[in-house]
Amino acid sequence: MIIDIVTIFPEFFDAFLNTSIIKRAIEAKLIAIRLHQLRDYSHNKHKKIDDTPYGGGAGMLMQFPPFYDVIHKLRTEESIVILLSPQGQLFNQQKAIELSNRKHIILLCGHYEGIDARVEQLIDMELSIGDYVLTGGEIPAMIVADTVARLIKGVIHEESAEEDSLQKGWLKYPQYTKPESYKGVKVPEVLISGNHALIENWRKEASIERTFQKRPDLIKNIKLTENERKILNKVGFKSKE
Ligand SMILES: C[S@@+](CC[C@H](N)C(=O)[O-])C[C@H]1O[C@@H](n2cnc3c(N)ncnc32)[C@H](O)[C@@H]1O
Repeated sequence: MIIDIVTIFPEFFDAFLNTSIIKRAIEAKLIAIRLHQLRDYSHNKHKKIDDTPYGGGAGMLMQFPPFYDVIHKLRTEESIVILLSPQGQLFNQQKAIELSNRKHIILLCGHYEGIDARVEQLIDMELSIGDYVLTGGEIPAMIVADTVARLIKGVIHEESAEEDSLQKGWLKYPQYTKPESYKGVKVPEVLISGNHALIENWRKEASIERTFQKRPDLIKNIKLTENERKILNKVGFKSKE
């Protein structure tokens, strides 16, 4: 998978690309993340890429021609071009799973007041990372790239991704590590029992109970098995069906 990121601040990505799991995934050639300086596509000898909005108003807008040129340079038949924007569909794990099956993702980062709206004619998708406004699309681009990268085979243990919160709709069960007890605060007994069947049952129930307690809104999107329905009833969930 290749992720191309178009930005006027490539330095934002220094730590992201050179740290931990993403660094290793790049070194192992499981993913390539390439940065493109939008100013290199400026039509202005001072590399300016923004101007005042037609019709007046505050702030500076990023111009259409540099985006037009960079998209036409990078796009192939396999690309999906994504504009990061607070006006987009909300990014979530389901969208990350879909994107992880693509071969080539192009992420466009806006800044300042945003981008000339003609760019919307060139994109395949507009994604928002949440209902709030950031100063630029660089952090959203890192969020999308990071979430998608860890779903690519080999980047992390497959089992670990499969069991992650939201991957199958549920939140993950609570996890504990050594020491077994600290200042009288103990880990649940079942986890040190060595009984794998009991542990598995406990985890399943804990995952469902957590989802009910913390994010009951997620449950309506899950196709429940008979066993999951039983556990939900046990923890007090009242289904509307
Ligand atoms: C200050 S914002 C522009 C907001 C724009 N004036 C509006 O009201 O829709 C500058 C850039 O940050 C990025 N951005 C801000 N909030 C975002 C969000 N929630 N999700 C994704 N990108 C965001 C976008 O790339 C946007 O072009």
